Amino acid sequence: MRDRIIPPGATIGILGAGQLGRMTALAAARLGYKALSYSPEADAIAGQVAPHMQGEYDDTAALARFAAQVDVITYEFENVPEATVVACEKHKPVRPGVRPIHFAQHRLREKAFFRQAGLGTAAYQAIHTLADVAGATALPGILKTCTDGYDGKGQARVANKEQLAESWEKLGRRECILEALVDFQAEVSAIVARGLDGRTRCFPIGLNDHRDGILRTTTVPSGLPAAVVTEAERLGVRLANSLELVGLVALEMFVTKDGRVLANEMAPRPHNSGHWTIDACTTSQFEQLVRAVCGLPLGAVDVLAPSRMENLIGDEANDWLRYLSDPTARLHLYGKAKARPGRKMGHVTFLTLG
Ligand SMILES: Nc1ncnc2c1ncn2[C@@H]1O[C@H](COP(=O)(O)OP(=O)(O)O)[C@@H](O)[C@H]1O
Ligand SMILES: [Mg+2]
Repeated sequence: MRDRIIPPGATIGILGAGQLGRMTALAAARLGYKALSYSPEADAIAGQVAPHMQGEYDDTAALARFAAQVDVITYEFENVPEATVVACEKHKPVRPGVRPIHFAQHRLREKAFFRQAGLGTAAYQAIHTLADVAGATALPGILKTCTDGYDGKGQARVANKEQLAESWEKLGRRECILEALVDFQAEVSAIVARGLDGRTRCFPIGLNDHRDGILRTTTVPSGLPAAVVTEAERLGVRLANSLELVGLVALEMFVTKDGRVLANEMAPRPHNSGHWTIDACTTSQFEQLVRAVCGLPLGAVDVLAPSRMENLIGDEANDWLRYLSDPTARLHLYGKAKARPGRKMGHVTFLTLG
């Protein structure tokens, strides 16, 4: 085991250079690691805190130069092309590797993988053709493009076949999945780390509140019955083991009104619903990722204080002075220049102290 450890002083390569990469680089620095992020943007925000290399995801020569400068590679978003990961794997270990993104990039593959791994999901069906639209039964439902959706983008709620046909047109007749609408009592997520030795550790389950498809708040502890929390943890760990991943995976789930826990979607990387761990957990999700990909022991995941994480979206980040004046608030700004509507600019973690 020890010979597989990548020790402090080494460099962690990160594909993608947004806020998740930035916070991973900060956690790496705290443990004495260097970080180098890679992305096509010239002004990547991860580049404000650690070196950044500008390059396209299909530029294999640039990827080889990137890989030559690092000891291990991870990614901060699941839409890195599979070919990019494969190109990097020729030079250095990529953790969690290509398998998790193969499933996470495509909603139909992802749902089938969940079912195969023994995780329950909403009823769903493929919508590829007009005949699929005509034969749809998962209604009322949510139509989602199989690829490229995030923060509720590429989705439409549909009550009947007419609306389904209309929405499918609007989405450009792309390959879609229709999911039956889940009448949930709550949304939760499990963030699970899995080490090189196959050991797993699940962060305490967070209660998530979404608005317009975007995460607004995560509350820990979730306040849900112990049986629900245990089941959510079990599903998260089961997923991490099924993926055989080394790194982190977040599993978003629905808790139905009769207490069942269904898998919604996964992200094999740090997750917005885990940002509370920076201020309110013994180990942050970013440090845990560093530990996992470097072959270090996974950190403890005790809750230090009850907390509520609130995203700062668009102009909400202008209120930074108010948050700085609140003794219960811990402010995180991502260094993004322009506050476009719907853009995640930062977050605040409110701690219940004393
Ligand atoms: N089948 C469903 N039933 C009920 N609500 C859903 C369903 N699918 C998605 N949603 C709602 O939309 C949000 C975003 O959908 P999700 O599939 O997680 O896509 P994204 O990649 O945009 O996060 C979910 O968190 C949930 O609030
Ligand atoms: Mg989601």
